[in-house]
Amino acid sequence: MNYVKMRLTKLAQSKFLAALRVLCCVGISALGIIMFVSSVSMAAEPYVYNQDAGRVNYMLQCQGCHKANGEGDGVGVPSMSEHGLAMLSIEQGRRFFISVPGSSLSPLSDQGLADALNYIAIELLHSAKRDQTFQQFDTSEVARHRGYKMKDVAGEREHIVKQIEQQTSAH
Ligand code: HEC
Repeated sequence: MNYVKMRLTKLAQSKFLAALRVLCCVGISALGIIMFVSSVSMAAEPYVYNQDAGRVNYMLQCQGCHKANGEGDGVGVPSMSEHGLAMLSIEQGRRFFISVPGSSLSPLSDQGLADALNYIAIELLHSAKRDQTFQQFDTSEVARHRGYKMKDVAGEREHIVKQIEQQTSAH
């Protein structure tokens, strides 16, 4: 009788251990999957220009002053096509686009501002001057320059325009 009881408890024990092992395996794999998924979702997604978001952001946050075609009012708001894509070919010009008050202080996220700026560059400027190449903005470039406080916006623009003119006359 005792022997049978012992066998039974042994059996129960081994079954219990087997179940425990299975549970452990399942638990560890589940943990692994959770950690993998969260590490993937935490990694920064590469920026991809969203044309629809760019158009909507431009319409809602910029167009009031810059007009639908980016030509501004010809008085206080400059025409973006005047120096257009040439500005985007120099570092200071790119920083200028990101850090002018209308851009940097807009309620848009960095990604939303990148979309609005790319909308300007691609749809308003490049579509009119297809021979000029330029590099798109991305979220990290916007984040890097957005906090730059310009002391003299007009002076900075003048400086950039001079650089562009020097570049074009040197060619
Ligand atoms: C309240 C009016 C206003 C709004 C809204 C506005 N801007 Fe502007 N923007 C200006 C003015 C004025 C200038 C000229 C520089 C200055 O004085 O800030 C300018 C200059 C610029 C320039 C430089 C263009 C050049 O050729 O010198 C860019 C780029 C620009 N804005 C982008 C934007 C973007 C992007 C938005 C929307 C997220 C926006 N602005 C919203 C008024 C505005």
